[in-house]
Amino acid sequence: MRTTSRYRAARMIAAIGVISLVAACAGNGGAAGGGNTGEGGAGGGGAGGGDAGGYPDQNITFIVPFSAGGPTDTVTRMIAEPMAAKLGGKIVVRNVEGAGGTVGAGEVARAKPDGYTVLMHHIGMSTAPALYKDLGYKPLEDFEMVGLVTEVPMTVVARKDFAPATLQELVTYVKANAGKVTLANAGIGAASHLCGLLFQTAAGVKLQEVPYEGTGPALTDLVGGQVDFMCDQTTNTSGQISANEVKAYAVTTPERVKSLPDLPTTTEAGLPQLQVSVWHGLYVPKGTPQGDIQKLSEALKVALADPGVIDRMAKLGTAPVPAGDATPQALRTKLEEQLGTWAKVIADAGVKAS
Ligand code: MLT
Repeated sequence: MRTTSRYRAARMIAAIGVISLVAACAGNGGAAGGGNTGEGGAGGGGAGGGDAGGYPDQNITFIVPFSAGGPTDTVTRMIAEPMAAKLGGKIVVRNVEGAGGTVGAGEVARAKPDGYTVLMHHIGMSTAPALYKDLGYKPLEDFEMVGLVTEVPMTVVARKDFAPATLQELVTYVKANAGKVTLANAGIGAASHLCGLLFQTAAGVKLQEVPYEGTGPALTDLVGGQVDFMCDQTTNTSGQISANEVKAYAVTTPERVKSLPDLPTTTEAGLPQLQVSVWHGLYVPKGTPQGDIQKLSEALKVALADPGVIDRMAKLGTAPVPAGDATPQALRTKLEEQLGTWAKVIADAGVKAS
């Protein structure tokens, strides 16, 4: 492992008060904190049918609370262009990384509620309150919901030359080498962190965790051999699995993923407790005009029905949510349910971010 990764590992170990996670749980996650930017614009042409207020009449910024090139960023950029086209404006994607997604979420919670700052977040929105003592925002109170976007399976993947050949062998191996094995993730509360906790609980081990600002850079290090293994979304790992650049053990959903037909499920591979998938949603700051939220939600529906988006998602092992779920109420219902689920899992696990 490189010096930087060793430093990150030390930081992570110091930061987490882990752990004995007692749950087998189906769900998804993320958290907040500040960071870097990778910007990209999605231009929409077209008239966009301006509403009474003329929204939008300037660029809309989509904040991604993880690194550019990672799974959250990938899904955001996929929908940004068709959404911009429907809205008749331009969407700029900005990555604000840190603290498992909580920095970016915090920035949006404090942003002007004028419809021009939108957050893309995942399951981490529902895990952060139980993990972070001073989060600085309340998911249900400080945001308005726009709609659900997608739900993505996770995969357990390792560096190509990692010794274990199967998921069962991985469990045996990490038990025998717990002090030496490194497990990458995208920070406390990130989906990769939660999936890693579920893995460690199922295997009955405590591993050295190596946090990154997103699983984009984590995957780069995995391919480069700097870390041993991790859980990550199919939207990030599909390319490397298909190109045989990583060793893939299993997919964490009850069914196999169509685009990765040879990859067994965790149940088939003998670890049925490891079940998790990652839901994503769009949020705006509390107080954003309802008319703007409606327009964003309508644009989201259009983007999710776009054949290009459906095709690209399918190639990466996922699909848009049904149109009825791309709504404020569906996201609120999901978030409420998941906040309860993860509060219990995290309390049982005794995990804290500080
Ligand atoms: C996660 O582990 O939460 C995600 O992979 C974050 C990301 O988009 O990098």
